Amino acid sequence: MNEDEAGSQYPLEPSAQEMRAMGEHALDVLVRFIEGLRASPAVDLDGADEVVRLLGQPPSEHGRPFPGLFDDVARGAAKAFNTTGPGYLAFIPGGGLYAAAVADFIACGFNRFVNVWHAAPGFAQIEWTVIRWLDDLFGLPPGSGGILTSGGSMANFSAIATARHARLGEDFLDGTLYFSAQTHASVSKAAILAGFPQRSLRAVPATPDLAIDVEALREMVQKDRADGLRPFFVVANAGTTNSGRVDPIADVADVAREEGLWLHADAAYGGFFQLTERGRTLFRGIEACDSITLDPHKGMFLPYGTGSLLVRDRAQLREAHHVGAAYLQDLFPESEIPNFADSSPELSRDFRGLRVWLPLQLHGVDAFRAALDEKLDLTQVLYDALRSTPGFDLRWPPDLTVVPFRYRPRSGNAEEFNRRLLERINASKRVFLSSTMIDDRFVLRVCIVSFRTHRDRVEEAIDIIRSSAAELDR
Ligand SMILES: Cc1ncc(COP(=O)(O)O)c(C=O)c1O
Repeated sequence: MNEDEAGSQYPLEPSAQEMRAMGEHALDVLVRFIEGLRASPAVDLDGADEVVRLLGQPPSEHGRPFPGLFDDVARGAAKAFNTTGPGYLAFIPGGGLYAAAVADFIACGFNRFVNVWHAAPGFAQIEWTVIRWLDDLFGLPPGSGGILTSGGSMANFSAIATARHARLGEDFLDGTLYFSAQTHASVSKAAILAGFPQRSLRAVPATPDLAIDVEALREMVQKDRADGLRPFFVVANAGTTNSGRVDPIADVADVAREEGLWLHADAAYGGFFQLTERGRTLFRGIEACDSITLDPHKGMFLPYGTGSLLVRDRAQLREAHHVGAAYLQDLFPESEIPNFADSSPELSRDFRGLRVWLPLQLHGVDAFRAALDEKLDLTQVLYDALRSTPGFDLRWPPDLTVVPFRYRPRSGNAEEFNRRLLERINASKRVFLSSTMIDDRFVLRVCIVSFRTHRDRVEEAIDIIRSSAAELDR
């Protein structure tokens, strides 16, 4: 009997046959899950307690057979917000391209170290190819660079740490940062983690259409400078989370240039609309940025854990993050390919590049462009349909793919009504929406970014939203 038939004598090193059996079972679980997504609920937390208990069991001393384990994992996946499904229109929908799952499977199996190029030049090149493609997409010049991060929050953090280092030096507590009141909270969090006290953060008022008020920005910067502070960092949003609004990036860039500020675009949600003609028009001026945060796990439909920071001058990124160590002295210095570890807070990490590179190479760029164009069209369909329905209040025409709305009930408390409306819509389990506060008022919001959301689901969403409001307003 050979080892394959007998199974391996080392439990941590399965035989080829055992690996195939395990892989085939995992594939089966995943393909069944993906095939079932159109029919599965947009959210399902009924019975989640039981699954939580089941998955709370400590590991046994001698292990369990994998089929039962995978089934338990699939049960865990089922009792959740259905973030990969077509009806998930809440927060910023997640992706989950199948090709990216395959990429991660391969990447974890090969388990190469990509954060210093010399340890795996081919794989480090894959990440660098992705970064170069992104830099080109945004018109950043030679000398630009970037890193793949775990998400937009870490990208915003490294952007602020880099700007702080480049513009303020070590004594930075008189530095001030500017961003509109509609900016994602990860920017404030990043600034605080980068050492800035709350008093350094300036919430610039938004105009009634929820974009940054550029004149107010200019005045705030000038006043702070007159008061002896050092304004150094401004954010332009390329799609806010609340409303999808795109700040007038070119105008913010003018202020940044005149006032000597580091210009950062938070394009975590909206950035990949740059692939479309409509997005490129809205993002005019983004090529002037010193740094840009992107989340391929949003606009490129990739799994969570895939963010990116692009920088105009990669030397500045490196100078802000690099700290040498004697035990790394055997590693080669940077070549054409950077040592990403020198430009990021992380040393050991997953091979994120493959899950961006493989789907791009496999499907081609146009498949992503077409999917994003479709999302822009679908958003317009939903906006037009709700706006033309009596009772619905849609104040903010979509720039991208977020539609905030309220309903004006004939009587009673509107705030309370809209909270109940959200609950009723989500109780359909065919679509799942979330809410936010705009101008201190509760609003529902739809966000269409999943590659699995198509016209049929958006029409169903419109029907559910309309009928839920009509039933509550009787
Ligand atoms: C505009 C914007 N910036 C930053 C972030 C934070 O990104 P992440 O959740 O990937 O850390 C988000 C997340 O939704 C976002 O929408």
